Parts: sequence; C-alpha cells; structure tokens
Amino acid sequence: MHLLIPAAGTGKRMGGTRNKLLLQVRSQPIIAWTLKAAAAASAIKWIGIISQPVDWPDFKAIVADLNVTKPVEFIPGGSSRQESVYNGLQALPDTAEHVLIHDGARCLVTPDLLNSCAQAIQECSGLIAAVPVKDTIKVVDKHGIIQTTPDRQQLWAAQTPQGFNVNLLKQCHAQGLRQGWEVTDDAALFERCGIEVRIVPGEETNLKVTTPQDLAMAEFILSQR
Ligand code: CTP
Ligand code: MG
Repeated sequence: MHLLIPAAGTGKRMGGTRNKLLLQVRSQPIIAWTLKAAAAASAIKWIGIISQPVDWPDFKAIVADLNVTKPVEFIPGGSSRQESVYNGLQALPDTAEHVLIHDGARCLVTPDLLNSCAQAIQECSGLIAAVPVKDTIKVVDKHGIIQTTPDRQQLWAAQTPQGFNVNLLKQCHAQGLRQGWEVTDDAALFERCGIEVRIVPGEETNLKVTTPQDLAMAEFILSQR
C-alpha cells in the first residue's frame, strides 16, 4: 500500500513561525511520530511526504534518524491541503491501485489503524477513519443564532487515514479543479462526485495537532503509551 502524508502546511493556528510538524512532542518532532507509525505498519510499502521544499533538509534528517527502510519520496506541497494531495497523486507510481492519505499532523495514529485501513480499502472505493461525536453539534448562522441541532446519531468526526481507489480520486480531484470546489478532505470530493465513502472505526486518541492545547494533549497521550 502506498501512503501519502500531507505535511506542507504552515501551522497558522499553532501560532509559530514555521511548520508545526517540526515542533517537538516527547523530544521528537511531530512528523517523526507520524513517520514512526507509518514505518511500523506492515501494510505500508511506500511513503510519500508532501512538504514545502524549505522543510526538506529538516524532514530528510528526521527520516535518516529513524532509519526508515521503506522507500520514502519527497513531493512538493501546494498552497492548500487539496493542492498538496493533488501533487501527491501525480507523484504516485503507476502501479498504485489504492492509496492511503494520512495527515502529518495526526501523529498519534497507531500502526494498527493504518493496517486496518489498508486492508479495508481492498474491498471498497473510498473510506475514512472516523469516530462518533460526543458533543451535541449546533448549526449556527453568522449572527450567532442557532439554526438547527443535527441528530447526533448521524454525526461522525472525520479523521485520517483516508483510503481511495487512485484512479477515482484523480478523477474527483480533476472534477474539483474544473468546478472550483474547495474541500478540507478527500472524502468530500468523493461525496460531491456521488461516490460512496465508507466509515472505518477510528481512534479517540488519533487527534490532529492543531493548537498549542493539542500539543499538550499529544504529549500526555504519548506519555501513557
Ligand atoms: N497541509 C498540506 N498542505 C497545505 C496545508 C496543509 O499538506 N498547503 C497538511 C498539514 O501539514 C497537515 C494536514 O494537511 O498535516 C492538515 O492540515 P492542518 O492541520 O490544517 O495543518 P496546517 O494547515 O499546517 O495548519 P493551519 O490550518 O492552522 O495553518
Ligand atoms: Mg490548514
């Protein structure tokens, strides 16, 4: 299975001056934890790190330190996650029938979750890891007034890994470009194209490190392992 890791963001919500994936959790950069999980997942045979060339010297040093034995490719990132994944898709070897996409910022993912997604995508065209939401979610208008309360039974929080048939995902990205769709994950492109995306059980601890609070949370979760 081929794995693409979007890692080309700037980490605006983290508030720092450079890519948040280089910040440390438990004495290792965030991206190192993500790569360790990918390296340990037996189903993953190839890793593409999508990132800004300015970060390549740091990222390459991290890969070297981890002694990753699988092929690792560096792919230039785009100005949005969507563009970064698009670049990643173009860089996949022709032999890749399916692909897993996992955010560099979800550094607490387990090898088990990567393996189970890699297995499940053999049986469907698209999937995402997700967990049921615990909060009651409100739909609120721009004046701060609640419009509706969706039924929580039907609400899931999307995570990565997300897995797709490569040809279908390339077609959906092309369609998205033509129509000017802006999405925050690849499943949304499949949905807009009317292609089924399945849920696989994610992990409560598989949080995305987005804010300084998440960094503290990640530190705690790793300290418990
Ligand atoms: N990402 C990417 N290319 C971009 C933007 C984001 O590959 N142009 C990646 C990030 O590196 C991250 C993942 O997509 O691993 C999820 O994005 P997010 O958590 O939003 O990270 P940032 O975009 O870096 O953070 P922010 O939105 O706060 O700026
Ligand atoms: Mg972002």
